[in-house]
Amino acid sequence: MKGYFEGWRRYLHEDNGTEKIDVDVLAKASDKNIIGGKEAMRQGINLVDFDADAVRKIAQELANQLGGQLGKELGRGAMGIVYEMRASAGEGADMILKVTQFPHEKRGYTLARWKKKKLKKNPELASILPDVGKVVDLIYDFKEGWLKGRSIKIYGISLERLAPLPPRVKEQLFGHGGKFKNPEAEKDWIRAITDPKLLIPVLREAFSDKHTVDTNGKIQELPPDEREYAWFKGGKQAGIEFEKQVLELEPPANFRDYLTRWLPQIGRRAERRALPDRRDDWGTPPNRIIQRQSVSLAKRLEDRIKIPQYPPEALKYFGIEGAFPKDDAPTPVSTFFNKLMKLKDHGVDFWDTHSENVMMRPSTNEIVVADVGLFKPVEEN
Ligand SMILES: Nc1ncnc2c1ncn2[C@@H]1O[C@H](COP(=O)(O)OP(=O)(O)O)[C@@H](O)[C@H]1O
Ligand SMILES: [Mg+2]
Repeated sequence: MKGYFEGWRRYLHEDNGTEKIDVDVLAKASDKNIIGGKEAMRQGINLVDFDADAVRKIAQELANQLGGQLGKELGRGAMGIVYEMRASAGEGADMILKVTQFPHEKRGYTLARWKKKKLKKNPELASILPDVGKVVDLIYDFKEGWLKGRSIKIYGISLERLAPLPPRVKEQLFGHGGKFKNPEAEKDWIRAITDPKLLIPVLREAFSDKHTVDTNGKIQELPPDEREYAWFKGGKQAGIEFEKQVLELEPPANFRDYLTRWLPQIGRRAERRALPDRRDDWGTPPNRIIQRQSVSLAKRLEDRIKIPQYPPEALKYFGIEGAFPKDDAPTPVSTFFNKLMKLKDHGVDFWDTHSENVMMRPSTNEIVVADVGLFKPVEEN
């Protein structure tokens, strides 16, 4: 590995408008050997796969440019490696340095910094964005190996140091991740998910269908008032009786009970109400359709009471179904979600807000999106 990470060529650091352009022009004019983002992607070249010593040298160089003291590695995601950093010798502020090769990361953090500045008069909303410092970069030349002679541009993003969310808050906001660590969060979650105000509309949504099959075996679109419980014998009226049955079930005692007893009981009660089988010439039998609808119920319920990873409009990209918290979601969830949505009025689309990307500001206990690398500009309202 020796010699592998030597040969820095430094360019301009500050990325305020004009200088940013200079950097890009320079890179284009003189660096045919630079591996661009797309090529790096195609070839699977990612800094986060480099060994710790190698990246540390790069981080050290970036920290020097920032005038900071590099500390230990704190974490790695898919896009970057994060180190402790102190602003200046001894008493400088606690910061972190994120080392990444992805230009979109630089754009995301720069956007957050700019918007946070513009949101000064709205500190409540600004609080969910991290304090982003300078962004620097360097060109790293590969000296050995199969990439010898090629170069890659690497960014160093400085931002405030945040703390992991306590399990209680993490599970309040993001749910269980397979199982709960915090008993209070589990209790709150069970209460929220079985609250009739939340549960009934979700049942109606889960067991609804836009289409059904008529007596000639033709698929027809249903009028809106017939969509709910479309595959139940007796339609909506049967659905309302079914809802009563669901509310009379013994509520789940805990998460395990929710999964292994409560949800299957709901599913069985729904399936029992299926329209009679229409024989194989008509496609999927109604009880099978209802079975599928029951499977979707858990996700629909859970998505209503947790912070979504992507904004509502993003669902069409993924072709997935998803629900979003409304005002009947638990308060911490709706408060934080509303702030994320509000960012849009200020020209920012939130993105990738999963549980590892959301942290806490230790001085104030504010909830902050630590990883804004995928935040995107949108037209302001
Ligand atoms: N501001 C911060 N303060 C402390 N730790 C952080 C901070 N930002 C990120 N981390 C840690 O580093 C990990 C990876 O950072 P992240 O920005 O999410 O990288 P990636 O873009 O690769 O997902 C995080 O999950 C977290 O543990
Ligand atoms: Mg991340």
